[in-house]
Formats: sequence, C-alpha cells, structure tokens
Amino acid sequence: MARDIRRSLVDKILSSLLKKKAQTLISTGMSETVSTSQSLGQKRLHIKTYGCQMNVYDSERMADVLRPLGYVMSDAPEDADLVLLNTCHIREKAAEKVYSEIGRLKEMREDKEARGGGRMTIAVAGCVAQAEGAEIMNRAPAVDLVVGPQAYHQLPELIARTTRARGERLMADFAADEKFDKLPVEREVSGPTAFLTVQEGCDKFCTFCVVPYTRGAEWSRPVAQIMDEARRLADKGVREITLLGQNVNAFNGADKSGAESTLSRLIEALAGINGLDRIRYTTSHPNDMGDDLIQAHADIPQLMPYLHLPVQSGSNKILRAMNRKHTRESYIELIARIKAANPDIAMSGDFIVGFPDETDKDFEDTMDLIRQVEYASAFSFKYSKRPGTPAAAMPGQVDDKVADERLKALQALIIEQQQAFKAGLIGRTIDVLFDKRGRHNEQGIGRSPWLHSVFAEDAAHLIGQIVPVKIVALGNNSLQGELIKELV
Ligand code: SAH
Ligand code: SF4
Ligand code: F3S
Repeated sequence: MARDIRRSLVDKILSSLLKKKAQTLISTGMSETVSTSQSLGQKRLHIKTYGCQMNVYDSERMADVLRPLGYVMSDAPEDADLVLLNTCHIREKAAEKVYSEIGRLKEMREDKEARGGGRMTIAVAGCVAQAEGAEIMNRAPAVDLVVGPQAYHQLPELIARTTRARGERLMADFAADEKFDKLPVEREVSGPTAFLTVQEGCDKFCTFCVVPYTRGAEWSRPVAQIMDEARRLADKGVREITLLGQNVNAFNGADKSGAESTLSRLIEALAGINGLDRIRYTTSHPNDMGDDLIQAHADIPQLMPYLHLPVQSGSNKILRAMNRKHTRESYIELIARIKAANPDIAMSGDFIVGFPDETDKDFEDTMDLIRQVEYASAFSFKYSKRPGTPAAAMPGQVDDKVADERLKALQALIIEQQQAFKAGLIGRTIDVLFDKRGRHNEQGIGRSPWLHSVFAEDAAHLIGQIVPVKIVALGNNSLQGELIKELV
C-alpha cells in the first residue's frame, strides 16, 4: 500500500518530466526518415563510463546494440568514429567532468578531421544526459547526440540520423517503452564475471539523491527474461553474476504466472543454472532486506557472503533529514540478523559526511556505528549539493574543510577495518575465481568470495576456474595467495 502511494507520487513527478520532454526525440536541424541497416563497414567505437555498475552494464549493452552496425570497440578515443560518454550525475564533480571531457573530444575531433580521418560523432548517454540533456545541447554544441539511460536501445536509429544528416543534433530520453525487450539477446562477455541488471530506478527519494530523477520509478525485469540472459552468460563461460539494481532487493519482477517474484526467489532460480557458481547482488536498501533474503544467505551456497548495504549516516537526526526511513538501531539490529543467518558474511556500506546540519556529535554517531558493524569495505563521500534535491535547500550546509576532515577520519577507520578483515584471512584456504592474468609471468588474478583481488603465481592457466587458494600475505588493496599444488 505504502509502495503504491509512493509509486503514484513518483509517476506524477516523472510524467510531468516526460510530458515536458516528450517521449523520445527532440531534434534540431533537418529531419528525415532513416533506415538503420545500411552502413555495414567497420567503424570504431570508444565508450567512456562513469558512475556505478549499472552504467558499466549499460555501456556493454550499448556496444551490443551497435555491434550489428559494424562498430568495434576501441581504446583510443582520438581515432574513434563514435565516442559515447556514459555519464553519472550523482555528485557535482562527476557531472562537471562531462563538460571538460567534451572539450577534449572536440579537439580530438578537429585533429582527426584534419588528418583526413573522417568525422567523429560525440554522444552523451547516462544520467547527466537524462538530468540535463537540454543544458548539454545548449552548453556543448560539439555534442551530436544526447541519449538517456532508458533510450539507448534506439542508438542505431539515432546514430544513423546524426551521422547522415550532418548538422542535425538529437536528444532522446525517457522512452517509457521497454528497453530490455528491444535489446539484442546476444551479449559479448569479457571474462568469467558479468553484471546483469534486474531492477532499475528508485522510489525512495533520499533528500540528497538524484537517482529517482535520473533513473525513474522502481521497475523490475520479468524473471523469464533475466533467466534467459543468465543462461546465455553461463553458456559463454560466466561463472559469477552480479545482479544489479538501484534498489535491487526491492526486485519484484513478474514470474511465469504473472505474479510478483522476490529477489530471494530469483536467486534460488538462478542458482539452478548449470555453471553459474557465484551470485551477488547490489545495491540494497536496508528497508527492503526481507527475512527470505536474509535466509537465502544461509541456504543458497552460490550466494556469496558479501552484502553491500548502505546506511549513509549513524545519526538518527541526519537519517531523518535524509528521509532514509530507518534508524541506526534498526540498521544495527538488521545486521545482527544477517550475521546470525551467515556468520561468514562481510558487510560493505556507503557513507555521506557533511550532510546539512551534521554536527561533530552526529559524525561521532556515524563513527560509532562503523565501529559496531565492522565493515570489510565501504565507500564514503563528501556530501555534494545536487540542484533540485530537497537537501540542497536545507539550512546548515557544512563547511568544506570540516567535511574534508570528517571524510579523512572516516576513511582511516574503514581502512583499518578492511585491513583487519583481510588479516583474518591469512593462513585460510579460500575459493578464488580467477578472472585475469597478472602483470608478470604466469601470475593469475582472481576474486575472493568477499570481492578481494587475490594474486597467485602460476595461476594464469586457471582463468575461468574456481580453485582453493591459501592466503599468505596482504597487499595494499589485495591478497597474496598460493595454489594448493596437489589440488590443481
Ligand atoms: N541505492 C543506493 C545508492 C545509490 S547512489 C542506496 O540506497 O544507498 C550511491 C551512493 O552515492 C549512495 O549510497 C550515497 O552514499 C552516495 N551519494 C548519493 N547522492 C550523494 C550526494 N548528493 N552527495 C554525496 N554522496 C551521494
Ligand atoms: Fe538514492 Fe539509494 Fe536513496 Fe534511492 S535509496 S534515493 S538511489 S540513495
Ligand atoms: Fe551515477 Fe546514474 Fe549510477 S547518477 S551512480 S550513473 S544511477
């Protein structure tokens, strides 16, 4: 019921946004009918990805969409025929980077044309495209195309228009139709691990956050569609998938009968796929952490013992102002239940310091919560004022220097806990999924169940396999392990 009310609120806000921006295309310059299947010569595509894992997934899918048109991935933007910036709007710095990057690309394009290398199309995708598409069009005339995160399945058509009708610039956003139905089922995989988006959008409206505006209302993919994508990944050798969603544990995609499923049921079904040995999910909201999902951590061996569960602050006053709808006590109690279900589970979180009106005492509450929970890793950020969000207008904006100091102290504490967790693994034999070669000799690099990088000599031939490794030393951000000879 509460969810229905929230959803209708989100729908209202979004529909007003949608009305303003219409469903898909706003174009400047001449327009014409296009067909997308003409030019099949090889073209170079460079994608630069900012932001969260969902953007990483989206970038891979954009490459999948463009591959049939002859686009091959290139690491070199200076020679690319199409450069896609997949952008992030979460903090001011992330959003501003886009404009400086466009400036650099504009120079590269001029050089490329001067060399006789042909035209470079510049496209901006992702959350900045969604949030400030019109501003990009005005502020950055070098940009040919702006495409929001729900519209990138239309890229072939959009690119054909921008490249054929030179001088025409396009903006495509929030297509209400279903992107996932239109994406190619084939995905190119780049190793034994893969992301798989199962849920998008957010209905929570934390007062600091732009995600509900850039990604829209919460929406889950149907179970059968996810299962199909996962099976195809497993067939291509993927051993570990990370299910993605802005609030992935609010997943409620339709099952075969049309009824709402849950994340725990989805994980159970995925665990039945042959070859898929590891399942992870991120990012979760504390309020959507149901008992069934907690129990799944006890019952499903494929579900990795690692949980990213952002709390943002340990002060109830700040949590209230953030509209988080949970307290420090409810969060700590939730973690106790999770650890009771699976004592091996490692916790990870997100923290914001310097939220409006955060006092030394509030910050100390956050530090205290961190000491109680003991994180194996965490991401921490200085509060960034985002235009249009309620927190941006709140009194008591915190001095930048104070926020810097708090961030430093918090990060020092987290690093201490991270090292302590890793130190506890020395001497233990753990399962490692090798996923890439190291820099020298036959060194292999893999992933621990808790997402550490693990280095081991003579392991390069084990890529794609999960093997027991004895942890012998700590690296800066990694673990050093040794293969157990008789087992390999
Ligand atoms: N859905 C997740 C997080 C999505 S955004 C959740 O519920 O927590 C990823 C992280 O960016 C957030 O957890 C938060 O720590 C950080 N973040 C979001 N908006 C921010 C802002 N305005 N300033 C600083 N950090 C922010
Ligand atoms: Fe942003 Fe996460 Fe809050 Fe949603 S739940 S508004 S994504 S921080
Ligand atoms: Fe950034 Fe959009 Fe992800 S704002 S964090 S890329 S959902």
